[in-house]
Amino acid sequence: MTCRYKVQSIAHGAIRLEQLAPQYGAERRRLMVLKYRGMAFRGGYHDYLIRRGGLLVFPRLIASEREVEPRLERIASGIPQLDALLGGGLDRGSSTLIIGAPGTGKSSLAAVYACAAAQKGENAALFIFDESVKTFMTRGIGMGLDLQSHVSAGRLVIQQIDPAEMSPGEFIHRLRHEVDNRQASVIVIDSLNGYLNAMPEERFLVIQLHELLTYLGHAGVATILISAHQGLIGSQMTSPVDASYLADTAVLMRYYETRGEVRQAISVMKKRSGTHERSIRDFRLSADGVHVGPPLRHYRGILTGVPVETPPDEASR
Ligand SMILES: Nc1ncnc2c1ncn2[C@@H]1O[C@H](COP(=O)(O)OP(=O)(O)OP(=O)(O)O)[C@@H](O)[C@H]1O
Ligand SMILES: [Mg+2]
Repeated sequence: MTCRYKVQSIAHGAIRLEQLAPQYGAERRRLMVLKYRGMAFRGGYHDYLIRRGGLLVFPRLIASEREVEPRLERIASGIPQLDALLGGGLDRGSSTLIIGAPGTGKSSLAAVYACAAAQKGENAALFIFDESVKTFMTRGIGMGLDLQSHVSAGRLVIQQIDPAEMSPGEFIHRLRHEVDNRQASVIVIDSLNGYLNAMPEERFLVIQLHELLTYLGHAGVATILISAHQGLIGSQMTSPVDASYLADTAVLMRYYETRGEVRQAISVMKKRSGTHERSIRDFRLSADGVHVGPPLRHYRGILTGVPVETPPDEASR
């Protein structure tokens, strides 16, 4: 942008306001402080809204500004087999990516951890991009999770995010509110696919996500990210966002076929902060909640989606 008269040089401060029109969705507004004499300012773009009463500016997140809180405990799900799989539970200050095909139970698993935190009297917040709050609640209640009472008590906040209407800056602002003002100990972003759609420029997603995870890590939050695979079964499944190297822990959920049934399996692929089980366990949802079975030692090739049963003598080796 060129300025016909070089007024910038005589003014003490200069702010540039921009309006962007994405191919789909509401317009996005952002501003940048170009200069401010004699004072340090936060550089880069900051999203803003024009609302009744004035402007609402969402300052760009800088993770290093947040002091590191040494919260080393774990958040256990209360399901012994699941906690064994994850080496005791989710570490505070770490991020966990749940990857899996649509319908494998990713959101339900995240809901279990949010409820476990709320059960202990802590706060949890879920930001859901893909489904409605009503669907989320109905499924959780159908699985016997006590979502409604935690929501009523204010320990659980479930916010639906419309990526077409909300800028990344506003989303980060809402998330920070939960962490800074409500001391949330569990934050769920369901899903990264939806978060990606909220980004005006997708190539910056990973760098923004890295900043966000660092900030949440400093705040001692156990962050759960959900990523949906494209494709239901087999080895051709891909993920539109590869955040597996950003997350500290990666949990894989897959469908596998056996005896004319489609079942789900769960395994932990990595955990930076310590040990975890290497086994693949059966995963099932029911009206009683989440069930994680014993290690599936009688199968070979579960991760291909079409395993073969192995004889008991081979399985015990
Ligand atoms: N009460 C219940 N009893 C048995 N199964 C259930 C119950 N509630 C949900 N399910 C199963 O869980 C699946 C949905 O789980 P969930 O929404 O957690 O999966 P997801 O991996 O998050 O899916 P998506 O990728 O579509 O968001 C349903 O397809 C259904 O098979
Ligand atoms: Mg889901």
